[in-house]
Amino acid sequence: MKLLVINGPSLAALGTREIDVFGKKDYDFMCQQIAKKAAASNILVDIYQSNHEGQIIDRIHQTYADGTTGLIINPAAFAHYSYCIYDALMAIPIPKVQVHLTDLNKRKEEWRHINVIGPACNEVIMGRGYEGYLDAIDYMIKNNADYTAEEIVKALEDSESCAISDRDRLVAEEAKKALERKKTVEM
Ligand code: DQA
Repeated sequence: MKLLVINGPSLAALGTREIDVFGKKDYDFMCQQIAKKAAASNILVDIYQSNHEGQIIDRIHQTYADGTTGLIINPAAFAHYSYCIYDALMAIPIPKVQVHLTDLNKRKEEWRHINVIGPACNEVIMGRGYEGYLDAIDYMIKNNADYTAEEIVKALEDSESCAISDRDRLVAEEAKKALERKKTVEM
């Protein structure tokens, strides 16, 4: 299993940022806990943080080429309005888990109750602090997140159509297009 963890804007400021909301544990501590759990479970993990929407989207698309088999994403405030990140996630067929440290529905700002990214993910975990990331790793283990995007697309193409849900077919079709684009770029 090869996991990618993406953390969005201002998450690197944990430890100093809104301590009353996020606590005093800093970003390095959180990354260490993720790395420890991954190592103990024999999983390769890459932890990426960016404050920029386009960079996050580029990193999501790279999962086609780099053998990533599962994606955990805390999009931070992009969760509330980034249809671009939603689209990028819909275009990749590997399992995706959205994590938020806080429970969005319990936050005081109404706009945080809107999550436009959730429907593009297989699971949403919120309100568990950094342990939500560890739960997301457990989800990946439980769901055998062991296949690359290319392997999933091939398997979907080879299988009988009745066994595939409409959503998976949609994702597979998007994934196939992306693979074709990748080939064109490489040629
Ligand atoms: C957050 C929740 C978002 O609303 C906020 O913008 C963040 C952190 C969380 O993990 O709880 O930056 O994603």
